[in-house]
Amino acid sequence: MKAAQINAYGDASQLFVAELPKPTVAADEVLVETYATSINPIDWKAREGMMQKMFPWKFPVVLGWDVAGVITEVGADVKTFKVGDEVFARPDIYQDGTRGSYAEYVAVRENQLAYKPANIDFKQAAAVPLAGMTALQILRKLEVGPGKKVLIQAGGVGIFAIQLAKLMGAYVATTASAHNAEFVKGLGADEVIDYHTTKITDVLHDYDAVYDMVSAIDEGIAILKPTGKLITISGYPTPEQQAGPQTVESGYLAATGEDLAYLADLIRADKLQIVLDEEFPLTTEGIQAAHRRSEGHHAKGKIVVRVR
Ligand SMILES: NC(=O)c1ccc[n+]([C@@H]2O[C@H](COP(=O)([O-])OP(=O)(O)OC[C@H]3O[C@@H](n4cnc5c(N)ncnc54)[C@H](OP(=O)(O)O)[C@@H]3O)[C@@H](O)[C@H]2O)c1
Repeated sequence: MKAAQINAYGDASQLFVAELPKPTVAADEVLVETYATSINPIDWKAREGMMQKMFPWKFPVVLGWDVAGVITEVGADVKTFKVGDEVFARPDIYQDGTRGSYAEYVAVRENQLAYKPANIDFKQAAAVPLAGMTALQILRKLEVGPGKKVLIQAGGVGIFAIQLAKLMGAYVATTASAHNAEFVKGLGADEVIDYHTTKITDVLHDYDAVYDMVSAIDEGIAILKPTGKLITISGYPTPEQQAGPQTVESGYLAATGEDLAYLADLIRADKLQIVLDEEFPLTTEGIQAAHRRSEGHHAKGKIVVRVR
């Protein structure tokens, strides 16, 4: 099968498409023929070698953490899913460098799968698992709900988080460039701050929650109530930042088929919009360009890679 991989850490030019054997499925896994995958900032952070403590991989490594496709094989213990099912998932990349989703086939554990909603295509489906589940899980930890005010920065994760926080009943402030203000209001944001011209600390006060995606931890703490909570998904708070009355911590996604199925139900009910940025093919040039687009920090929605 064709797969995009790296043989060393470094810039986007380390990525190349080559032929690899199809993964063999373990008893609790299914084999998914990939129709589309998507890019997350963690992909290029890992490619650069910034995630080596968390992921002590052996080369070559097939990157990619989002898959949408069709099941072509099931392991002996798989109970719910069958050959021919249209599914999506946030699979794990194993220590031996296999099972990344920049590949024509991905082996995925059954407990990470959900059925793809019929009202979206594979490219839209590939945009959801990592970003959508991260949005959902951190908002739950922030205990966002009716009467609560939350700041969420708009990006691939933020686009899901703004919509989910509104569904949870919260008042949502967000940061974006001026040309994206109407776009994020359309997702439900109550207040939009142009972070290029305005400091959030000048306009936001007494917030219950900050969902930090840009490591602006000091500014986030400054707008919180003493009982408020900040979770960052893009950095590590220092002991000083954690010494105040507010709760300040890092948050990570723990991918589950259950949470993905919850998002799938919202998509089926037309309650969650999926916003796509550019689309690239699974070629060496395509995957390198997709990474560079993500590294530019101004994607408007999810960058997707067409595999089939
Ligand atoms: N811990 C975890 O489990 C986890 C999971 C997923 C993601 N993450 C991390 O979360 C971060 C965000 O991921 P993502 O996929 O949402 O990234 P992304 O899509 O690349 O984010 C880019 C967007 O950020 C926007 N942005 C909004 N406010 C900003 C501000 N104050 N400063 C800078 N940019 C701002 C930009 O908007 P404009 O174009 O309007 O300027 C741009 O559209 C990354 O660091 C990623 O690695 C962590």
